[in-house]
Amino acid sequence: MPGTSRAVRRRFGYADSAHRKQGDARKRLQDRPGSEFEVVAPDRKELDITVWDRVVERLNHISPQVVVNCAAFTDVDACEDHPLAVRKANVEGPRNLAQASARFNCKMIHISTDYVFSGQKSIPQPYFEDDAMEPISAYGRSKMESEMAVRTMPSTM
Ligand SMILES: NC(=O)c1ccc[n+]([C@@H]2O[C@H](COP(=O)([O-])OP(=O)(O)OC[C@H]3O[C@@H](n4cnc5c(N)ncnc54)[C@H](OP(=O)(O)O)[C@@H]3O)[C@@H](O)[C@H]2O)c1
Repeated sequence: MPGTSRAVRRRFGYADSAHRKQGDARKRLQDRPGSEFEVVAPDRKELDITVWDRVVERLNHISPQVVVNCAAFTDVDACEDHPLAVRKANVEGPRNLAQASARFNCKMIHISTDYVFSGQKSIPQPYFEDDAMEPISAYGRSKMESEMAVRTMPSTM
């Protein structure tokens, strides 16, 4: 559905570049000043979350208490044209992290998005976490699937 993602972004009040500008959760987590936690924040070169063996190896090495999944294919418009890459990064990757977190007995935090909703709810009603998901973009659909993939795992928060 070309163009749909832009429409959803307008509904949620994003400017075209805002989604990216507010991004980089990984770096912001890493740069938290005075954090009482040690943060290990591998980038994609250091850990590709779509490769199960690498995920297991890194978690075994780091022994984290909590895994925060900041990795995703987040270019909303590009998601429309790259379904396989989107599925790997946004569904299979989080599933790998959730399964490995369960194996190593640590908690995993997965970040969702308002793109799982259609944006059609009557204004000024806000969306709530338990509202029915009805994504209308490839990105939103992949994030909905990612939620479903990790939700049932005992490790996931
Ligand atoms: N930004 C927002 O406004 C917003 C709003 C709601 C929810 N979220 C969610 O918040 C989370 C973090 O988003 P963000 O804004 O920080 O995204 P971001 O700035 O686009 O960063 C995503 C990161 O994921 C990495 N990545 C992609 N595929 C990977 C893979 N297979 N293995 C390892 N790393 C991979 C990317 O690496 P490369 O740079 O190498 O591609 C990039 O560093 C995502 O789940 C997103 O859906 C974001």
